[in-house]
Amino acid sequence: MRLLIKNIKELVQVEEQARLRVCGKDMASLGTVKDAYLIVEDGVIADFGPMDNLGEQTFDQEVDARGRMVFPTFCDSHTHMVYAGSREIEYIDKIRGLSYDEIAKRGGGILNSAKRVQEATEDQLFEDAYQRLEMMKDFGTGAVEIKSGYGMTTEAELKMLRVVQRLKEASPMTIKATLLGAHGIPMEYRGCQEKFVDLVIDEMIPQAAAEGLADYIDVFCDEGFFTVEDTERMLEAGARHGLRGKIHANEMACSGGIQTAVKYNALSCDHLEYTGEAEIAALLGSETMPTVLPGAAFFLNMRHAPVRQMMDAGLPVAMASDYNPGSSPSGNMQLILSMACVNYRMLPEEAINATTLNTAYAMGVSDKLGSICRGKQANFFITKPIPTYEYMPYAYGENKVEQVFLKGKQV
Ligand code: NIG
Ligand code: FE
Repeated sequence: MRLLIKNIKELVQVEEQARLRVCGKDMASLGTVKDAYLIVEDGVIADFGPMDNLGEQTFDQEVDARGRMVFPTFCDSHTHMVYAGSREIEYIDKIRGLSYDEIAKRGGGILNSAKRVQEATEDQLFEDAYQRLEMMKDFGTGAVEIKSGYGMTTEAELKMLRVVQRLKEASPMTIKATLLGAHGIPMEYRGCQEKFVDLVIDEMIPQAAAEGLADYIDVFCDEGFFTVEDTERMLEAGARHGLRGKIHANEMACSGGIQTAVKYNALSCDHLEYTGEAEIAALLGSETMPTVLPGAAFFLNMRHAPVRQMMDAGLPVAMASDYNPGSSPSGNMQLILSMACVNYRMLPEEAINATTLNTAYAMGVSDKLGSICRGKQANFFITKPIPTYEYMPYAYGENKVEQVFLKGKQV
């Protein structure tokens, strides 16, 4: 099956040589080809270049993209998009002045979602999550990492992971599953949370690994949640079962989470509002992708991670949606692009690198996804007619995506 996309106004995020991630000042450059073609063979990117070089060839299918641009689909490397019910009551509480921490302490927040997930059937969770995935795809996302974490019991955590497994089978999107056993501390474990950590280590991790339900392990390592010591124990247990870490860190305080992520060679550490020089120094030279979640910082009206200092120091930065009912009820990665530019003063090129190749790295798929590169999977979208690629973050709120192709097929 040979597919040609022709007359592309600009083909964006092209690479001649595949890179696994983009760091520091390189984030400001973006490869593009104007008036381009893209050839897909059996779901894989076979070739691209300027229309003048296309020559005479035959194809099974041709798409004329005149006036339109082509981007690789977004990779969303941090979501909690399997959940039951919404939490707009807490949203009002927050507007009235209660902090995230205060809501969590009185049993709201993550515990509120946990109760609903425990009561929901696997089928219900699957149907709701599938609808959300479709919505994300329509906004241009082609790969999603999905965490458990609203289970809080072994049974409910495994139920969530089974839902993710079904999503992997049912959706053309690339999906990675993360066991987030240690997301919140159940009421009955308050004051003895090390016993809950034991449960994660003795039951959740071995059972999820034995059933092949998890690709990664996560811990909410932060002030008021799990300590560095708890996190180290769980990351060690994860490693014994072949699960690499992707941890929540430094959202509430300089809690040591970033240093712990680096120490255990986590694939990513995420949130990072409280990142100082020591944290940046720890990340430099590591294989851990610093990942910022602009939707959560926006929704919780929080301080912003020091993204410019991180890039100036030579670090890569990834940006994901954090799609979840409590702190970021949207999986729209076009909005993340706009927030990256407006709230973090990233250039559009930096924001595009942060939401494509660097998030692909942060979910362990950048050898196959995240750019338009020969040999990579043909996951891309065709935009509506737009004037420039900078228009993508600029025109916030509207959907600029017209057609999405995953593995070379329109979906
Ligand atoms: O990534 N920070 C921790 N966990 C989620 C919030 C989940 C919730 O409030 O339900 C987050 O923002
Ligand atoms: Fe999160």
